[in-house]
Amino acid sequence: MQINIFYGVISASVINLELVRGAIRAAQEENAPIIINIVQGQMSKHGDGEIISGIVRTLAARATVPVALNLDHGKDYERITHAFRHQFSSIMIDASEYPLEENIRRTKEVVTLCHSQNVTVEGEIGFIGQAANADEKKLDLFTRVEDAVYFFEATGVDAMAIAVGTVHGKYPSHLAPKIDFDRISQIKQATGKPLVLHGGSDSGEDNIRQAVACGINKINVCTDTFVGCKEGLKTILQETPDVDFMTMMINMETTAKNILQKYIYISGSSGKAANF
Ligand code: 13P
Repeated sequence: MQINIFYGVISASVINLELVRGAIRAAQEENAPIIINIVQGQMSKHGDGEIISGIVRTLAARATVPVALNLDHGKDYERITHAFRHQFSSIMIDASEYPLEENIRRTKEVVTLCHSQNVTVEGEIGFIGQAANADEKKLDLFTRVEDAVYFFEATGVDAMAIAVGTVHGKYPSHLAPKIDFDRISQIKQATGKPLVLHGGSDSGEDNIRQAVACGINKINVCTDTFVGCKEGLKTILQETPDVDFMTMMINMETTAKNILQKYIYISGSSGKAANF
């Protein structure tokens, strides 16, 4: 089958049943593949890996589209092995805060573990920070092309998160970030490997489309879903204060579905379920 590489798969952050269901429903309605994402910190505070993995695997078995489960920003080896034991299909090791050689050492350790069981690994090179710290403007944090090539070769990761101008969280005044598209193209050309864009929320439709055209294959979305669900719950409570709790939860699931469905469409993965 001819696979069109010019689309990105949405990786949707979740912390509970409603968000998992919302994400999978969005993928079903778009006939798209979907990656369910849970950040290490979220997993330790709320739905641990065993719980989330059980929910995702149950719902994935009922779905007619491909559903993967990814540990996002895994930093501690203990948390990473927890996700590995609970059958996550991929694991991100984020050692980007360390100097390059230490990042490589930590990443390789996780690659060795995960590849023993066909679990894929995402690494991070450069540093994708926070909108709250205006990290999107700090060019020295951006991924260098030569580091990306070296990192891929030295670690054997399957995919790599790159810092190219998007960061996590809401940008001030909802200003879309300035993405370094040339850098994405150069990294893609030099490595030929799957590339990941973090900080998908609020980054702008045209930016996402162009990032995909330049070589991004996976786009992480969290803040827009969480904020959208919170706003939806506030609205329903204001409009109908005696609404019952279950209606609120169903409302939250539908809000998440609508937000993620739009991202799936923008990333170009609608209709691509059969490619996997
Ligand atoms: P946003 O919260 O900005 O969408 O970023 C999500 C993300 O990159 C998770 O790793």
